[in-house]
Amino acid sequence: MKYPTSPFSSNLKFNNAPVDLSKNNISGELSIAGCTASALVKEFGSPLFVIDEADFFLRANAWKSALQESFANGKLYYAAKSFISIEIVKWLKALELNLDVCTGGELAVALAADFPTDRIEFHGNNKSVAEIEMAVNAGVGTIVIDSFIEIERIAQIAKSAGKIQNVYIRLTPGIQAHTHEFISTAHEDVKFGFSIASGAAVAAVEKTLTHKSLNLIGVHCHIGSQIFEVTGFTMAAQRLVATLAEIKEKFGTELPELNIGGGYGIAYTTQESAISPQDVLPALAKVIKEECARFKLALPIISIEPGRAIVGPTTTTIYEVGTTKSVTLEDGTIRNYISVDGGMSDNIRPALYGAKFSAFLANRESASEKISSRVVGKHCETGDILIFDINFAADIAPGDLLAFPATGAYGRSMASNYNHIPRPAVIAVKDGAARTILRRENQADLLALEVTQAPRRLS
Ligand code: LLP
Repeated sequence: MKYPTSPFSSNLKFNNAPVDLSKNNISGELSIAGCTASALVKEFGSPLFVIDEADFFLRANAWKSALQESFANGKLYYAAKSFISIEIVKWLKALELNLDVCTGGELAVALAADFPTDRIEFHGNNKSVAEIEMAVNAGVGTIVIDSFIEIERIAQIAKSAGKIQNVYIRLTPGIQAHTHEFISTAHEDVKFGFSIASGAAVAAVEKTLTHKSLNLIGVHCHIGSQIFEVTGFTMAAQRLVATLAEIKEKFGTELPELNIGGGYGIAYTTQESAISPQDVLPALAKVIKEECARFKLALPIISIEPGRAIVGPTTTTIYEVGTTKSVTLEDGTIRNYISVDGGMSDNIRPALYGAKFSAFLANRESASEKISSRVVGKHCETGDILIFDINFAADIAPGDLLAFPATGAYGRSMASNYNHIPRPAVIAVKDGAARTILRRENQADLLALEVTQAPRRLS
């Protein structure tokens, strides 16, 4: 199956195709899976997250089948943190995927969609007692242990429930992933996992094996997110296999599973290109098979946990332009500030990670000259910048629509109500038809949390 490396959903088109999206001289109107931007906004309002359902299935199937080609027994967990809703979970069920959740809230969505609990894996560096109880009682397939305290906590809860809980241990393989510091997770100085180098990993295995209510089935690592270099993944896999060998030697136990996490990078702009399943999975298979042969280990069941690579490119945010303003800079150049009706509350990635996005005029063509522009949100904060510097049509005006492709991962899922802005709706489009899968919040939703209460003395 060919994997689309374009930054944009495979059904994203402008009417007067073919169009080179890398230039801003687009013509016609944007349509996604047969729905035009203006029709979508007319029906559902703005801003909107528009998710291309067929593209979601295409990308998920591409990763799933590539995983099966490289590892006959591979398991794909979709990382819910990238974006989850009941409808998405139904799609995952139809795709026969597994699901990685990292909070009781994400687990609640999975349960509400009746997802098979034995195909769920529960992550997190600080799962609460209540969350662990919820997971154990729901029959979650695997809990990923992240600390010594948690070994005891999960063991105790499983024991009280009269269950034997399958667990992985999360390891820190000491890899410096080349990505933003805040989304890099497997170097030594991080909050996640047990360090292999310090011996904590083997000590955690020893401790876990002492508990009859825990069934240790494998080790896990996740080296970070938005990673393009295959060597980070292969080096991590190599260190994990070596750890499996050490565990076998020390405890006589050959753990049957190895989970290498997610983190596969996607393209956000026309200048970038994604890492494809074919780039990474055969390379991983080669290393893992060689290392297992070297240590005389049976090939474990291999799992991966992509989130962004599946949902990221499926979704386009559509904003409406509200105001524009020309600002003369110190060197005399003029910058056009284009303000849209959302911003850092629906896309925190530029402000938090310096992430770059592309934007396109979505409702019409423009032949006007391209001028230095900055796309900003409507929040009361200077740093509320969605695109720092873009050459954009000079005639952009209030009422125009802007499309930001590749906003499906960590957009809606990290959205906030900063400045009391209701979070946008998520609309699924397919074959020229559109439907809401998450409705837009309204001011009544925000006010619903307000409580007027007399003070009570607490004992
Ligand atoms: N598995 C584990 C254990 C993770 O921590 C993550 C992401 C994933 C899988 C999925 O990674 P993905 O394939 O989606 O890259 N908010 C940041 C990304 C944080 C990722 C956290 N963990 C961003 O917007 O770039």
